[in-house]
Amino acid sequence: MLSMKRINQVAMAVFVVVVLSGLSKNVTSAASSPFLFTGSHLEYYAQLDVRLPGVSTAFLPPINTTLSARFGAGTIFGLNITEEVSPSSKLLGSLRGYTIETSYLGYPDSWLLEVAFVEYNDGQYNGTLQLQGLAQESLTELGITGGSGSFRGAKGYLVVTLVVNSLPTRTFRHDLTFL
Ligand SMILES: *[C@@H]1O[C@H](CO)[C@@H](O)[C@H](O)[C@H]1NC(C)=O
Ligand SMILES: *[C@@H]1O[C@H](CO)[C@@H](O)[C@H](O)[C@H]1NC(C)=O
Ligand SMILES: *[C@@H]1O[C@H](CO)[C@@H](O)[C@H](O)[C@H]1NC(C)=O
Repeated sequence: MLSMKRINQVAMAVFVVVVLSGLSKNVTSAASSPFLFTGSHLEYYAQLDVRLPGVSTAFLPPINTTLSARFGAGTIFGLNITEEVSPSSKLLGSLRGYTIETSYLGYPDSWLLEVAFVEYNDGQYNGTLQLQGLAQESLTELGITGGSGSFRGAKGYLVVTLVVNSLPTRTFRHDLTFL
């Protein structure tokens, strides 16, 4: 049978363990979970410099251009994203993903399946966003299907606007609305 003193020691040890594990849990979660983004709107610029190896239009060849135009053609990209339209403005992260031509029509009437993710870190908010949708010449609206870090569980949509089209530079503005 445990003495009262022994019981107190055990209770104290349990108490200490609980408090310490509580502390270490808080410390860990503070370090690994940045502030959750609670705003309803976010915008940044995706910088495409065609001279850099950040885009490959030969990622997948079309299946048969005689029969089906560009159907099956894939492009893979890895671009920087910045705070302002200028490519030398504050670097926020990257946009990486791919598009696959899903229609039998070529440019400019193509229907591209786009799958991409954004790595975003502005010093306050830090995380990733998962994007998926239809990219077209006229309008590209992608679904925000999830995220991590500051954007854990994100849901919404993203509209892409070409704001600079002066080769070798193409800059796209991404307007994100969270629902
Ligand atoms: C991204 O930014 C870095 C740092 O400014 C630069 O060195 C790199 O060339 C850029 N990459 C692309 C694909 O634009
Ligand atoms: C594309 O399809 C046509 C018609 O079937 C065929 O003659 C041609 O060889 C095919 N081209 C390739 C690259 O497979
Ligand atoms: C941003 O998040 C990533 C992934 O969790 C992490 O590796 C990185 O250290 C974080 N950066 C900052 C500045 O908090």
